[in-house]
Amino acid sequence: MKRIIVVALLGAVWFVVAAAVAWQVQASADSVRFPDNFADGVLYTTVTRGNLKEEIWTSRATIDAVKAGHPIPSGTVITLVDFRDGKLFRYVVMEKRAGWGGQYPPDRRNGEWEYQAFNADRTVNTAKNLDRCFACHKPRAAQDFVHTFEQMKTAN
Ligand code: HEC
Repeated sequence: MKRIIVVALLGAVWFVVAAAVAWQVQASADSVRFPDNFADGVLYTTVTRGNLKEEIWTSRATIDAVKAGHPIPSGTVITLVDFRDGKLFRYVVMEKRAGWGGQYPPDRRNGEWEYQAFNADRTVNTAKNLDRCFACHKPRAAQDFVHTFEQMKTAN
């Protein structure tokens, strides 16, 4: 009886340790928080298409790194503010951190980027299928999965 309890206890301890380790190394879309201070950064490009207007923001540090020919730095957040018919519609955000993305198979993984969609009130849009973000940004692998990479280079 005693032995069973010891074995059960050891099992429980092992489980807690393993869970803690897994938790530490696994970033996910939940790691991407709404970037409250995005507008302190640089509005580096605006895209207009029909009734749609997008303002795309990132930090000065990221713009400077890209202009200098360096890789996009860890900690980069890119915020796309999406307007429809002149009204705020939603935000989509991508964030890069050293070590992120390691849990994904190669056919899904986009380097160290994670993606998240937010409603106009800045809450997470839980209905959004984030697989589509990965898939549609994947063809831009040669420019670190950023569509508007050239615009970063020519930003002020
Ligand atoms: C159908 C393809 C497609 C899907 C799906 C998509 N994107 Fe994009 N994304 C683009 C394109 C193209 C741009 C460049 C701006 C433009 O032309 O509208 C872009 C731009 C961005 C940018 C600005 C940085 C950059 O790469 O230029 C962010 C941030 C972004 N998308 C996040 C997301 C997130 C988060 C999702 C999922 C919720 C997502 N995207 C889904 C095609 C896509």
